[in-house]
Amino acid sequence: MASPYPQGEREKVASKLPPALRQTLKIRAAELSLDIQDAVTTAIVTWREHAEGAASVETTGAESFSTWLPAGLYDEFKATCGDRDISYIQGLAQAVHRWLQDHPSPRHGTTETEPERKIVGNQKGGVGKTAVSAGIAQAYAEEGKRVLLVDYDPQGHLSEQLAIPQIQPGHDSLVSHMCGEGEGDLADAIVVIDDPRFEKRLHLLPACFDGFLLDPRIAVVATQKRGFQKEAALELALRPVEGNYDVVIIDCPPSLGIAMDAALYYGRRRRGEKPGRSGVIIPVLAEDSSATAYEMLAQQIEDLRDDLSLDVDYLGLVVNLYDSRRGYVATSSLADWKALGDPPVLVVINDLKEQREAVRVRKPLLSYAPHSEQAKAMRLIAKGASR
Ligand SMILES: Nc1ncnc2c1ncn2[C@@H]1O[C@H](COP(=O)(O)OP(=O)(O)O)[C@@H](O)[C@H]1O
Ligand SMILES: [Mg+2]
Repeated sequence: MASPYPQGEREKVASKLPPALRQTLKIRAAELSLDIQDAVTTAIVTWREHAEGAASVETTGAESFSTWLPAGLYDEFKATCGDRDISYIQGLAQAVHRWLQDHPSPRHGTTETEPERKIVGNQKGGVGKTAVSAGIAQAYAEEGKRVLLVDYDPQGHLSEQLAIPQIQPGHDSLVSHMCGEGEGDLADAIVVIDDPRFEKRLHLLPACFDGFLLDPRIAVVATQKRGFQKEAALELALRPVEGNYDVVIIDCPPSLGIAMDAALYYGRRRRGEKPGRSGVIIPVLAEDSSATAYEMLAQQIEDLRDDLSLDVDYLGLVVNLYDSRRGYVATSSLADWKALGDPPVLVVINDLKEQREAVRVRKPLLSYAPHSEQAKAMRLIAKGASR
């Protein structure tokens, strides 16, 4: 491709950047309506001007990155790297890192740099995990937050309902990255939900078919790679992209295996994080089999807390598909959920037509029926689960 600049004014520079830094730079430049090449120019100029040594930046896994700089600047930059006795890759990483600190995201109203993480789980199927994940993601995006919705269920209902194709086997996906076998940048697999209501703030990481083999694959990788921690697999995959979001939501599969442990681990309270900011949301039904399923999930959470000394917060329950006409079983079961107190019941949702209609037309519920009772319930959950 020809240079967009006349010869002599700009020159193409090929170097390397860690994928997370490259992706954050791309997004930040877009948020500030700047060209990446101008951002990198400013980054290098500023970095050279500050004589004091910058802190070293992690550059393991740096991948190729090229841009256009004013003629001569790269040579000056290389000379400065020589003076400071660091590699060009380290120099560029420091310059970009500093530029990102000097140019915060205009959307970031909080001082927290890590996203809130909401894990929507229950090994029982059909209780509303996917509906709640999608609904609260839309509610947060409506408020102005940047949201990553992760379709963590290989059945791919969430992707399908938002009209996004699943990732085919053999392609780079969440699963390959969880196994430490990702070939490219996971950010490249993320899709923007194209609906004006969310102004490009709602993103989806689609499901992949090989997710069905996730548990055995992780178990094998754990025996092959030293230092690989099964429970940290989801964290390993999402860490490089999560910094671009205010909220990450995981729509879990209906199972209690390694994949669920990895989701709970990802939703644990991180060091210095406020309690109740990240954690688990559990959709349930008002019936006895739901109570048994809940006890099993709660036991798994307890085991993980004990085994790995983690804090996993319960953000709350959603009593879904409630129908008081079912009589005593429904009403007494609802009373039992409320009596738990912790986790709190965030909202009780009836069996409503808009949810099924939105699924049928493959549109986000809060865009399809923004004033519906169901949409209001989703906003309430989002609020209740974000203390
Ligand atoms: N409150 C609701 N009213 C009507 N239909 C609902 C409601 N919540 C979920 N559904 C529908 O019930 C089905 C199961 O919900 P889903 O979210 O897919 O459950 P899960 O992810 O737990 O398997 C889906 O067709 C969904 O659209
Ligand atoms: Mg589901």
